[in-house]
Amino acid sequence: MSDRSTFEKFNVESSPTVSHAIETRRSVRGYLTDPVPEAIVREILAGASRAASGGNLQPWKVSVLAGDARDAFVNAVAERMKETPFGEGAEYEVYPADLEEPYRGRRRKVAKQLYDLTGVEWNDKGARARQMALNFTFFGAPVGMFVSIDRKMGPPQFADLGIFLQSVMLLAREKGLHTCAQEAWSTWGKSIREFTNIGEDELVFCGVALGYADPDAVVNDLYAERASVDEFAHFQGF
Ligand SMILES: Cc1cc2nc3c(=O)[nH]c(=O)nc-3n(C[C@H](O)[C@H](O)[C@H](O)COP(=O)(O)O)c2cc1C
Repeated sequence: MSDRSTFEKFNVESSPTVSHAIETRRSVRGYLTDPVPEAIVREILAGASRAASGGNLQPWKVSVLAGDARDAFVNAVAERMKETPFGEGAEYEVYPADLEEPYRGRRRKVAKQLYDLTGVEWNDKGARARQMALNFTFFGAPVGMFVSIDRKMGPPQFADLGIFLQSVMLLAREKGLHTCAQEAWSTWGKSIREFTNIGEDELVFCGVALGYADPDAVVNDLYAERASVDEFAHFQGF
C-alpha cells in the first residue's frame, strides 16, 4: 500500500511528539541535496546517546560523512562496483539462510512494493541490481553515517545498537529530517574502513542515509505494512 497524501501531510514537517515521529518515520530512499549542518547531526547523535544499553556499555560507534568526504567515498565505491558489483565480502549474514514464513513473505512483499513503485520488473535482474545500487549513493542523501560495533560484542549489544539506531531515526524526524538504515553497506567493509576511522576490530553493522526527503520522489510513497498486535503479542491476565 502506498499513501502519498500521508507522506505529504506529515513527513516533511518536524515531529512534535514521539508518536508523530514514529508514525512519520519511513525508510526514505529519495532525498533533496540540501545539506544538513554538522551541528544538527551532532545534536541527533548526542540525543540518541541517551539510549539505554545493558550495563551502560554504549557499544555504538558512528562515523559520519558529508560534503567532499561523502562524495569521494560514494564515487570510489561506484568505481569499484564496476570490478566487484557484489561488494568486498560480507561483514555478517544479513538474513538467516532459508528464511521461513512469515518473514520470507514480509520481505518479498516490501521488495515487491519497492519494485512496483520504481517500475522494476521482478524478473529483471539488471533493473533490480540498479535499484539496489542506489543504496551506495545513500539514495542521494547529503549525509551518510556508518554504525559499527566492537567485534567482541554479542547479541545483547546488537540490541543496544538497534535502540540507538531507532533513537537516531526518531530524533531526525524531530528536525524535519529523514533516514534510511542500510545493511546493504555491510558488503563494502573494506572501502568503508579506508574512508573512515573504523578499524578492523569493529564490525560495520549498517549505514544510515540522513537528509531532507524529496516529496516528489515516488519511491518515498512506499508504506510498509505491519503485522497487527495480535499477530506478535500474547496477552494474559487482563
Ligand atoms: C538495520 C536495518 C537495515 C536496513 N537496510 C536497508 C538497506 O540496506 N536498504 C534499504 O533500502 N532499506 C533498508 N532497511 C529498511 C527496511 O527495508 C525498512 O525498515 C522496512 O522495510 C520497513 O519499512 P519502513 O522503515 O519504511 O517502515 C533497513 C532497515 C533496518 C532497520
